[in-house]
Amino acid sequence: MSGTRRARLLVSGISENLGVVLSLADRLDEQAARLEAGEGPSAATVTLDAETINEAAADLAGSLEGVRLALSEAASLARRHAPAFAGAGWDAPEWHSTSVAAPVAGPAAAGPAGAAGPAGLGGPVIGPGGQPGLWRLGRILVPPLARGGRPVEVPLAVPLLDAGNLQITTTRERRGEAVGLVRGLLTRVLASASPGAVRVTVYDPHELGAGLAGFAPLRAHGVVGPTLTSRARLEAALAELSAEVGRITVDRLGGRFDSLREREDAGVPRGEPWRLLILLGLPPLADEAARTLEAVAAQGPSCGVHIIAVVEAEEGADAPGGRGVPSLPRAETVTAVELQGDPGDVGAVMPGGWRTSMSGLLGCALDDAPPMSVVAQVTTRVVAGVEQAVVRGPDLGGLLPPGLWEYESSAGVSVPVAHGPDGAVGLTFDDDTVHCLVGGQAGAGKSTLLLDVVYGLAARYGPDQLRFHLLDFKEGLEFAQFAQRPGDPFFLPHADTVGIESDREFGVAVLRAARNEMQRRSVTMRALGARDLRGLRAADRSSPWPRVVVVVDEFQVMLTPLDTVAREAVSLLEVLARQGRAYGIHLLLASQTLSGIDALDATAGKRGSIFGQFALRVALRTSISESRVLLSTANEAAGALSGVGEAIVNRRNGHPVGNEHVRVAYPDPAVLAELRDQLSAMVVRAVPAMRPPRVFVGHAPAVLEDNPAFQALAGRPVPASGDPAGGGAAYGSGTALLPADGSVDGSAGDPLAFVGVPLDLAPPAVGVRLARLPGRHLAVLGPLRREAVGMLQAAAVSVGAQTAPGGLVVDIVAVDPATVAAAETLASALRRTGHPTYVTDVTGLRGVLASAGAEIRAREEAALAGQGGAASTTRLLVVFALDAGRAGLEARDDASRRSGLDDLRTLTRRGPAVGVHLLGWWRAPSRLADDLGPGHRDDIAAWVATGLPGGDLFGLAGHRPVTAGTTPNRAVLFDRHVQAEPRTVVPFAPLETRSGADNGTAV
Ligand SMILES: Nc1ncnc2c1ncn2[C@@H]1O[C@H](COP(=O)(O)OP(=O)(O)OP(=O)(O)O)[C@@H](O)[C@H]1O
Ligand SMILES: [Mg+2]
Repeated sequence: MSGTRRARLLVSGISENLGVVLSLADRLDEQAARLEAGEGPSAATVTLDAETINEAAADLAGSLEGVRLALSEAASLARRHAPAFAGAGWDAPEWHSTSVAAPVAGPAAAGPAGAAGPAGLGGPVIGPGGQPGLWRLGRILVPPLARGGRPVEVPLAVPLLDAGNLQITTTRERRGEAVGLVRGLLTRVLASASPGAVRVTVYDPHELGAGLAGFAPLRAHGVVGPTLTSRARLEAALAELSAEVGRITVDRLGGRFDSLREREDAGVPRGEPWRLLILLGLPPLADEAARTLEAVAAQGPSCGVHIIAVVEAEEGADAPGGRGVPSLPRAETVTAVELQGDPGDVGAVMPGGWRTSMSGLLGCALDDAPPMSVVAQVTTRVVAGVEQAVVRGPDLGGLLPPGLWEYESSAGVSVPVAHGPDGAVGLTFDDDTVHCLVGGQAGAGKSTLLLDVVYGLAARYGPDQLRFHLLDFKEGLEFAQFAQRPGDPFFLPHADTVGIESDREFGVAVLRAARNEMQRRSVTMRALGARDLRGLRAADRSSPWPRVVVVVDEFQVMLTPLDTVAREAVSLLEVLARQGRAYGIHLLLASQTLSGIDALDATAGKRGSIFGQFALRVALRTSISESRVLLSTANEAAGALSGVGEAIVNRRNGHPVGNEHVRVAYPDPAVLAELRDQLSAMVVRAVPAMRPPRVFVGHAPAVLEDNPAFQALAGRPVPASGDPAGGGAAYGSGTALLPADGSVDGSAGDPLAFVGVPLDLAPPAVGVRLARLPGRHLAVLGPLRREAVGMLQAAAVSVGAQTAPGGLVVDIVAVDPATVAAAETLASALRRTGHPTYVTDVTGLRGVLASAGAEIRAREEAALAGQGGAASTTRLLVVFALDAGRAGLEARDDASRRSGLDDLRTLTRRGPAVGVHLLGWWRAPSRLADDLGPGHRDDIAAWVATGLPGGDLFGLAGHRPVTAGTTPNRAVLFDRHVQAEPRTVVPFAPLETRSGADNGTAV
């Protein structure tokens, strides 16, 4: 039976019984009229005293007894159907019980709100059969039936949940009583329902929520939403409720049930909370909003959506500026009335009385509003219950499949990650819901959801069916668990890349890799005539063509500030979002905030063209305004979520109709540990050759000796094009660091001076090629000693490693005494590889430069004479803190008339062409410019800066803004001959610190 039909029966049971009183009065009235021949009392009121009755005919004698029976039946119906908290007086001790107790039936038991309910007062109160059917408001006053008799009182109780609405019409003066009635009713409802099973929205333009302020603690838990005070907000809330009602009607009732009550009675667990819209006033509404209100009132009760409206007599009627709503559909009414007729008459009411639609002409008195202590107690209990429910969220273990890797991904991948009203709720990446957006405030549970998704998918699909790129832009080390760590050999076999504390450039590089994969698939598909992933798999069995999911936590970091990195990120996201579908490439992006991202807003339409493709949204608790950005402008549902892990899943681009209220599973550490063991065992059994993911750890230093590019040198120069690690990947995708043909900066025979690791997928090391062409030196710039020393050492050592013994001679000058040890360490390393190396301090600087100048002139002469032989040896000058030696370079040598500066400039201007190169460290760019001389800034074509503000590098970078490289463990590399843009690198750590260094910056 639907809740409404049941309520109608109850209401008519009571009012028919009360009607007996009224019909008796009517008959007496008729009789009196006959007796008095038309001089009887007015038609509206009829005296019902014993004298009149005695005067009545004997056929009425039995009627009195009938009336008594009818009244007692009405009273018993009202008591029986308003049990426990629904009907108890405010002085009942149970109101003060502190226990958050036994589970009861209701949405919370199966659904997102948890499962705790109030104990006492006879156990579960919202339970099977739609109990309670009635909610007590006060007393119906029946005047004495016999002379000297006592007035009879029948409890006044009205239907509400699953039954109908309530409209209270009052006057301005008596508004307080009406609000008190609402307070009492709300107290009863909240006390009766499981915590979280009732959601309340209050509209109060008059007192701005003051009348229901006692319930304010429930706001933080989403039970009560923020008070609406403007017409616009009310209209928005109505639109949202009507969407909710529409969704429930379609998704839950689906033509099979008349109401949620009926559905629950049929044994389907109820997951939807009851929603109460409390209107403490009703403004003139625009036509559309007025229609929405009517529609919600009419269909809402079947969907657990109810309106309690307090309307002042002058409101509600047709008011200027909009259509009023004189009476709500499906509402019992309670109306303030003043004294009419004699007290003691049926139909007369006291001053300050009330009439209701149930009790007809009989007057009613409302109960007092509940004491604040009762409201506070109920509120506290609900808060505790909601919090307890949060702690007891569902566990991921129950959602994992019994066996690993048993699913196939041709049509898409799908993973259950939450519990909703109808059981497990999954996220699917397929042709309909291609990409997924996750949002929520700090601590709402975004990263946890991502873990659920990654582990859940990894359990279902094998690494040949699904690949991941996992990027985390937060300090949290959430994704570190997917990569190998010291002491923990586990790695996620599906992961191609794991980025922890990722740099923005690295993030972009990963997106680029995904875009390249998409292009690769596109080429193959065109060649084979395949139209989608399924077609590609069928046509080309040489590769499993796995689906690829790019997971980015806090992706907004990549888009801020608005610079070249952000622009590239946005354009890559756009391409992937728009075209990923056909190629099985999916994005899963999570963020704390989606508003105020300049990179999305600066370019008109970018936000829409990217996120328009994200049909799948998961909104964890967040602000109303973020909810509107994350879901859709009319969807504030995420603003009303109460706890960690509570979420709205929406597969319809955030349209409110698609809202599904769920609880995200919690990945219990023990469950994960077991899954990881199973995955490891599976790798050994099924894919023993699987390589661990490429890992990037933002804070880790780069170690030259451990770098695959360096390890692969083995005395050979790096080829002009190709991966020194032998992996076949081309150097410098995107902004090419090295030209494929080597035409600009030299060729395969020229050594490459490594300085660091790029924030990129490949190659594993970057540097500057020391070709025999003007400008081919390296300037290290900036005040950060550790970084500068490390890069100079790495540059020299890597050149040494590419040169056969006898092919290189090195002079090292430690101008700053603090660098002597670093110079010695470098010298030892070079000597170990067979290269003659000489170390000196500031006193030897001039001599080294003079000798270099002399050698350059000699080599130039030899070249002119056609004798190139001697010049096959590369001569390298490595100078630490060159700027500190400037004072000693000014003076001219008496014999040669040359100054140290002259020799330095000979080196910078003419050295490279004859194989004499400088690797020098200047602590400030202005000193470099001074040393090179006016108009000769380009004599050193490549520099790498560390710890300098971008503004200091603007000129050197060819008037390009430089935003990176200002922090420790970062540098920015620019080679004017080959790079379009400065590029961030992780500097190699100094040689002497390598033993203690953390391994694995990028591999
Ligand atoms: N579904 C859940 N059930 C129970 N606890 C959860 C759930 N999700 C998250 N938590 C807990 O809440 C805390 C915050 O979760 P999480 O780190 O996932 O949030 P977040 O939204 O990523 O936060 P931040 O914005 O700070 O990164 C964690 O301690 C986690 O254990
Ligand atoms: Mg997080």
